[in-house]
Amino acid sequence: MSKTRSVIVGCGGYLPSKVLTNDDLAKIVDTSDEWITTRSGIKQRHIAADDEATSDLAVAAAKEALAHASVSIEDIDLIVVGTTTPDQTLPAVAAIVQAKLGMSHGAALDVQAVCSGFVYALTVADNFLTAGQFKRALVIGAEKLSSIIDWEDRTTCVLFADGAGAVVLEAQEGKGVNEDRGILSSYLRCDGTLKELIKSSGGTSTTGEPGKIQMAGREVFRHAVTNISEAIVAACKQVDIGVDEVDWFVPHQANLRILEGTAKKLKIPHEKVVLTVANHGNTSAASVPLAFNTAVKDGRIQPGQLVLFEAMGGGLTWGSVLVRM
Ligand code: ACO
Repeated sequence: MSKTRSVIVGCGGYLPSKVLTNDDLAKIVDTSDEWITTRSGIKQRHIAADDEATSDLAVAAAKEALAHASVSIEDIDLIVVGTTTPDQTLPAVAAIVQAKLGMSHGAALDVQAVCSGFVYALTVADNFLTAGQFKRALVIGAEKLSSIIDWEDRTTCVLFADGAGAVVLEAQEGKGVNEDRGILSSYLRCDGTLKELIKSSGGTSTTGEPGKIQMAGREVFRHAVTNISEAIVAACKQVDIGVDEVDWFVPHQANLRILEGTAKKLKIPHEKVVLTVANHGNTSAASVPLAFNTAVKDGRIQPGQLVLFEAMGGGLTWGSVLVRM
């Protein structure tokens, strides 16, 4: 029986030009390249300019994705942005992106699921497309985390950074089988009782300020391998695909040790995991589409292959999306 599928027809990414290395950070806080590299795998990160907002990063990634998909903005009827760092409290970043892209039709909304933002946003867009409500969506993960980093807190400032990634999703008719191109399954979770583990110290309706990132890193780490593994297995199980059949794992780029721990637990070969954390650190909702864009553009990810996106972040939220290219 035929089934509408959300097919990824293009992708893009953007990293601000300013690079901050581990050695640069060692001049600001009591840390070292050796500590950051061994604990997280991060070597450098990109920091947006003062006059560069999250929407600017998102627009740059979106333009690349539209060009890669050979789709014009008139063809898009939905924009979903996963972000934790909006330009303003209102309107949504998606509305600002829409305006900057010269689009005034269709719908636009933000999704706030912290580091799981892209996986959540992709699922939201997929549900709209497969329900027949929209035809083509721009799905973006974009963050200017540098604006909420406490630059005196060495336990967090060495991890987080800025960037954006985007995909164009298009509704296409499939046969309703696992060989169809497009999103085959997704799995989303949240456990708000763990909300204190990663949070900001403020907010619009409490302090009136966005606050700074605070994280109980060791506790988050303890949940990460379990939750990410659960998400990978759940997305595969829904469509009766073995974890070993997945060609590429594109994880949230938070920490190399978490990714290695997950791969070991599920017996995933190292070569199947796309790793970009060394180059850009933890860019929250941007990291999955940034890693995906890298592996598509360098030719690793090929048409017909199975790709699994996975993430865990503040909330705690976690989830996965299984897609055939
Ligand atoms: N440089 C040097 N020393 C440091 C630094 C630093 N930047 N930061 C902490 N330390 C010290 C600590 O003070 C501690 O010292 P002590 O033993 O004297 O108390 C020591 O290093 C070890 O600290 P831990 O926190 O135990 O280090 P750990 O090995 O757990 O690594 C890290 C910390 C990298 C944060 C890790 O716990 C982690 O990656 N956690 C998960 C983060 C994550 O996955 N986040 C995803 C979601 S993020 C989001 O949603 C926004």
